[in-house]
Amino acid sequence: MSGIEAEGLVKRFGPLTAVDGLSFTVGSGEIFGLLGPNGSGKTTTVRLLSCLIAPSGGTARVAGFDVQSEPLKVREAVGVLTENPGIYDRLSAFENMEFFAEAYGLKDKAERGARIRELFEFFDLWDRRDDKAGTFSKGMRQKLAIAKAIVHRPGVLFLDEPSSGLDPKAAKDIRDLMEDMSRREKRTIILCTHNLEEAERLCSRVMIIRKGQPLATGTVEDLRRKMHGAPALEVTVEATNDALLGKAGKLNGVKSVNLSGEGALIFDLDDPEAGTPDVVAGLVKAGARVKAVNIMRPTLEDTYLELMKEGQA
Ligand SMILES: Nc1ncnc2c1ncn2[C@@H]1O[C@H](COP(=O)(O)OP(=O)(O)OP(=O)(O)O)[C@@H](O)[C@H]1O
Ligand SMILES: [Mg+2]
Repeated sequence: MSGIEAEGLVKRFGPLTAVDGLSFTVGSGEIFGLLGPNGSGKTTTVRLLSCLIAPSGGTARVAGFDVQSEPLKVREAVGVLTENPGIYDRLSAFENMEFFAEAYGLKDKAERGARIRELFEFFDLWDRRDDKAGTFSKGMRQKLAIAKAIVHRPGVLFLDEPSSGLDPKAAKDIRDLMEDMSRREKRTIILCTHNLEEAERLCSRVMIIRKGQPLATGTVEDLRRKMHGAPALEVTVEATNDALLGKAGKLNGVKSVNLSGEGALIFDLDDPEAGTPDVVAGLVKAGARVKAVNIMRPTLEDTYLELMKEGQA
C-alpha cells in the first residue's frame, strides 16, 4: 500500500485544535488536493502525515506504515516540501542536495551526482549549482526545495504550496512533473494549494477543510454537482424571438429555457452533456443560426467560495 489512510486525526497546540478529526484515504498514484483557508490545518496535516510532528489523537498509515509506531519508516518512504524547507544557506545548492540525498539513503556517489544533475537540469539550476543557497532568489529556493523533496524518488510525496514563488514556466513544469510522477510512476501526492485552477487541473480528488474539519471531499465534479447541480447550457444564436423560445422549450430533454442578459438561450437540461446535440439540432431545425455553444460549468473556485459561505452559516 503506497497510499494514505487517516482515521480521526487530531492535532492540538495548547488550547487550539488545528486538526480536528480528519479521516480520508488516498489511493496509490492519486494526486489528492488539500484545500482550505489560511490557518485551516493543511500544513499541520502534512506535518502529521510525514511524521514531523506527532498526532494528539487518531491514527494514520502512510505508504503502509503507522505514523505512531513506525515514524522512521514513514520518514524514509515520503518526500516533503513544507513552508520551511530547511535548506542550509551556507552550503552550495549542490552540497545541499548531496547532504539530503545521502541522508535519504542514496549511498552511491556517482548515482547521487547523476540524480542531482538530472533534477538541477530540469529546474534550470545546473549552472548555479556551486552558488550558496543563501544567495538564491525566492523561486530558485523553491525549486531547490522541491528537488530536495523528490531526490530519493519517494512513493508518497507531500507538496505544500509547490508553485508558490515560481514563474509561469516553472509552475507549469512542476505541474507536468506532478502528473508524470502520479500517472507514470504511480507515486501518491498530497498537494496543498490556494491555486484552485491548479487543483482542478491536477487533483483526482480534493478535500476542503475549515478549522481543521472536513467540509467536503470528492472529485471536483462531485463537489460541483453537489453545490450547483447540473450545469446550464448556453447557446448563442444570431437572432432570438418568442417563436424560437417557444420551440426551444419543447425540445427533447429540456426542463426550461431562458434568455440571458446578452440574449443567449440558457437551457436547464436533465443531462447537459448527453442532451446538447439534440438541442442544437432542434434549434437549427427551428431556423436558428447557432453561433456558440457552451456548457456553463462552475469552476472549483465557484464551488469553493459557495462552500465557504455555507460553512459560515
Ligand atoms: N507549532 C504551532 N504552535 C501553535 N499553533 C500552531 C502551530 N502550527 C500551527 N499552528 C496553528 O494551527 C492552525 C493551522 O495552521 P496550519 O499551518 O496547518 O494552516 P494552513 O491551512 O496550512 O494555513 P495556510 O494556508 O496559511 O498555510 C493555525 O491556527 C496555526 O496558528
Ligand atoms: Mg500552510
